[in-house]
Amino acid sequence: MSIAIYPGSFDPVTTGHVNLIERASKIFDHVIVCVLINSGKKTPLFSIDERVNMLECVTEGFHNVSVRYYDGLLVDFAKQEEANIIVRGLREMSDFDVELQMAQGNKAASDGTLETVFLPTDPNYSFVSSTMIREFANYHHICREFVPDIVAERLEEKVKSK
Ligand code: PNS
Repeated sequence: MSIAIYPGSFDPVTTGHVNLIERASKIFDHVIVCVLINSGKKTPLFSIDERVNMLECVTEGFHNVSVRYYDGLLVDFAKQEEANIIVRGLREMSDFDVELQMAQGNKAASDGTLETVFLPTDPNYSFVSSTMIREFANYHHICREFVPDIVAERLEEKVKSK
């Protein structure tokens, strides 16, 4: 049975992420979407619970997808879940440098057991990122076309309360 982990910050989940989850769910027996901490990103807009909740809402139609949160290293989470595949999306060439380093680092840290599979982002979403969505939202512009409806609602509530 192939168990793949799709890790990320998901702050918030975008339509690009959902597209990738759907495609991964057709390739692997089970996909675990895992919210992890990216120590390079200091000020999250949504709490972990809020991010997990939005992911649960947008993936409820996928029978072989579950959503988790982990506070620690991806390799440790993978070991705990007995998963040996990581899925990551590539939007553009500049993503590749950092993703290659992460893939090789995770493989080395897992004694060679953890493989990373890259899926090209759908060209319709190649410029969409959570960072861009947050930046627009900070100025009260909700990018409805690039986030699921539930995320648009939560973004609106979030910026109203700021
Ligand atoms: O959506 P992001 O921010 O590009 O995801 C990056 C993420 C969260 C997958 C990465 O930072 C991560 O794996 N964090 C967990 C800690 C870890 O294992 N770090 C070592 C690999 S860089």
